Amino acid sequence: MNSAKTSTDVHLSKLYNWHGKLMSQRSTAMTHIDLARPVRASKITLSQLMHPEHANLLGNVHGGWVMKLVDEAGALACMRHAQRKVVTVAIDSMVFRQPIRIGDLVIINAEVSFTGRTSMEAEVTVLAENPITGEQMHTNTAYLVYVALDDEGRPTSVPPLKVKTEVEKRRMAEAQERQARRLKNK
Ligand SMILES: CC(C)(COP(=O)(O)OP(=O)(O)OC[C@H]1O[C@@H](n2cnc3c(N)ncnc32)[C@H](O)[C@@H]1OP(=O)(O)O)[C@@H](O)C(=O)NCCC(=O)NCCS
Repeated sequence: MNSAKTSTDVHLSKLYNWHGKLMSQRSTAMTHIDLARPVRASKITLSQLMHPEHANLLGNVHGGWVMKLVDEAGALACMRHAQRKVVTVAIDSMVFRQPIRIGDLVIINAEVSFTGRTSMEAEVTVLAENPITGEQMHTNTAYLVYVALDDEGRPTSVPPLKVKTEVEKRRMAEAQERQARRLKNK
C-alpha cells in the first residue's frame, strides 16, 4: 500500500484538525448561562376530579390529598427543568384558604421559580373549578424545594433559570429571599 500522502490527504487532515479545534473551543466557550432554561420549559398543569375517596370527615377534600398533588406537580416542574430525577428537600407551610368540595376539578399549576446549584424552588398554585359553571377559586399557593440527583443518587447541578419578564424576575428575587430564610432556619 502506498503510504505517501497526497496533497488532498494533507488538506483533509488540516481540515479535520481545524474542525476538531473549533469544536473543542466551542465546548469550552459553552458557559453555564448557555445551558439556562426558560421558566416556560418547566411549566406543568395537573388536574384531577375530586371523588368521595378524597374526602375528609367533613365531606370536603382531605388536605393531605392536595399536598400530595402539590408535591407531585412541583417535582414534575423541577424534573422538566433539570431533566433529572429530583427529591423534595423542603416544603414551606401551606395554608388552605377555601375548602375544596367533592365534585370539584382540582387544577394544579407548577413552575420553577428559582435555581441554586443543585436545588430548585417550585411555585405551585391550586385552583378548584366547578366543572359545571366553570367558576374557579384559588385555594392556595405553595413553595417547595427539590434537589436534582445524578445516576448514583447524589445531588447534581441544575441549569440556571432564564428569567425574561419583569414578573419572572420579581418571582425569582422573592424565591431567592425565601431560600435564604430556609437555609438560615435550617
Ligand atoms: C436532598 C438531599 C439529597 C440533599 O443532600 P445533602 O447532603 O443535604 O446535600 P447538600 O447539603 O449539598 O444540599 C443540596 C441542596 O439542597 C439545599 N438544601 C438543603 N437543605 C435545605 C433546606 N432545608 N431547605 C432548602 N434547601 C435545602 C442546599 O442548599 C443545596 O442547594 P444548592 O446546591 O442549590 O446550594 C438529602 O437531604 C436527602 O436525600 N433528603 C431526603 C429526600 C427525601 O427523601 N424527600 C422526600 C421524598 S421525595
